[in-house]
Amino acid sequence: MTKPNVHAVHRDWDRPFPAVARTEGIYLYDENGKKYIDGSGGSSVVTSIGHGVSEIAQVMFDQAQKFSFYPAHAFTNERFLDLCDLVVSLAPGGLKDNSRVWITCTGTDATDDAVRLARQYWVECDRPSKYMVVGRWQGFHGNNLAVAGFSGITSRRRIFQPMFVESPHLPPAFCYRCSLEKTYPECGLLCARMLETIIRQHGADNIAAFIAEPVVGAALGCAPAPDGYFQVIRQICDRYEILFIDDEVMTGWGRTGAAWGIDHWGVTPDIIATAKGMTAGYTPLSAVIARDDIWGALERNHSPFKAGHTLNANVVSCAGAIAVINYSLDHRLSLNSRMRGEQALAGLREMMNRHPILGDVRGKGLMFGFEFVQDRQTKETFPPRLGVSSRFEQFALRRGLVTYPCTGTVDGVLGDMTLMAPPLTISSQEMDELLAILDAALSDLELNLEISA
Ligand SMILES: Cc1ncc(COP(=O)(O)O)c(C=O)c1O
Repeated sequence: MTKPNVHAVHRDWDRPFPAVARTEGIYLYDENGKKYIDGSGGSSVVTSIGHGVSEIAQVMFDQAQKFSFYPAHAFTNERFLDLCDLVVSLAPGGLKDNSRVWITCTGTDATDDAVRLARQYWVECDRPSKYMVVGRWQGFHGNNLAVAGFSGITSRRRIFQPMFVESPHLPPAFCYRCSLEKTYPECGLLCARMLETIIRQHGADNIAAFIAEPVVGAALGCAPAPDGYFQVIRQICDRYEILFIDDEVMTGWGRTGAAWGIDHWGVTPDIIATAKGMTAGYTPLSAVIARDDIWGALERNHSPFKAGHTLNANVVSCAGAIAVINYSLDHRLSLNSRMRGEQALAGLREMMNRHPILGDVRGKGLMFGFEFVQDRQTKETFPPRLGVSSRFEQFALRRGLVTYPCTGTVDGVLGDMTLMAPPLTISSQEMDELLAILDAALSDLELNLEISA
C-alpha cells in the first residue's frame, strides 16, 4: 500500500493516485503489481522511446559521475555543444544546418523563450513596435502567465485572464467542428486566411509572431491542421514580416510519423519550440531552434538573449537528450510511429461501427485521439457536468490503460475527447492489446451512460 498522503499536492483532490513502482517499455506497474499500458505517453506525449531503457540511465549516470552542474555564466560544456550540433543537423526544411539552438528546461520555457526571441529580434532590428503574439483558440503552448495568454485553452485561462497581455487569437484549424461553419476544401482555408484579417486589424507593425501546433494536442485531442493550412500561414507571415513559431513540444522527434510535425506541410518555420520526446521523460529539457540570421541580429548588436534559467542546458540532461535522440534514430521510431498510428486509426474506425459514442477519430502517427458525442449526426456533446472524458479515463485505468482526458473541443468548454500517445516503440501486438482495452472501456462507458448501439 502507498503510504497515506499528508503533505503532497496532486493534480486532483478527489481521487486516489496509485504509486508507480517500476516501468518497462510501454508498461507501468503500480505498487500492487498491477500493469498499465502508458497509452498517453505520460501526461502527455512524452515517453517517446519507452520506459526503462538502461543505456539512457547509464549515459546520464556516467555524466553525473564526472560532473552534473557548473557555473553556466562562466563555462560551457561539451554535451551542450554536441546536442546543439545534433539538433541543427536534424532540424526541418531550411533550418537544417542553418539554425542555432537554445537549451532550456520545460516546454513552457521553450515557447516562452521562442516568443522572447521573436520580440528581441524585432527590437534588435530597430522595430520595437512589434510585440504582439497571435495565437489560436483551442491551442496550448504551456503554463506560465505569459504563455497562457497566447494559448487558447479556456479551462487554463479563465481565472488568470486579468493578468494576460493582449494577444489576438485565430479560430482553430479544426474541420470536424469548424467554428466558421465552413467545409474543407470549399472553405479555401478561411481559418488560415483570417490571420491576414487579424494582422490588418492590429497592424503588422505591432505583431512580432504567430504561434501554432501542427497537430493540436491537449486542447483538441490530436487534431492535425488540414492540408495546405501551414502553406497559407507561411505566405501571410512572409507578406507581413511576422515570425512563424512552430510549437513542436508534442509533435517533434517522430511523434506524428514524420521527424517533425511541420514536415507534413513541407513548410519551414522561423523558430521552433520543442521538448517532451526529446528526452522522453528521462530528464527535463527543452529547446528553441531558430534561423541563424535571427540569432545573428542579436549577435551583431552584441546583445545577449534576454532569457534563461539557472538549470538551462544542464549537462546531465544534455547527455540524456543526445542518447534519447540517437536511440530514436537507431530504432527508426518515426517510421514505427507512422505504421502503428495507421493501425490505431484503423482499429478505432472499426470500433465506430459498434460504439455510437465515438463521434470522430483523428490524429497523425502515434498522436491520435477520439471525441465523444451523444449523437454522431448532430455531433451533440455531453453536458460538462457528466465529466465523460474523465469517466472514460477511469474505466480505461481500471482495465490497465492510461489515457489522457481532454475537454473543450467545441468552444473551450463543451466537448469531451481522449488523447492517446503511447511510446513510439510500441509493437503491433502491443497496439492490439491497447486497442482491445479501449474497446472494452468504451463499452464500460456506454453501459454507464446507458447508451446502446
Ligand atoms: C503543444 C505544447 N506546447 C507547450 C507545452 C508546455 O510544455 P511543459 O508542460 O513541458 O511546460 C505543452 C504541454 O503539454 C504542449 O502540449
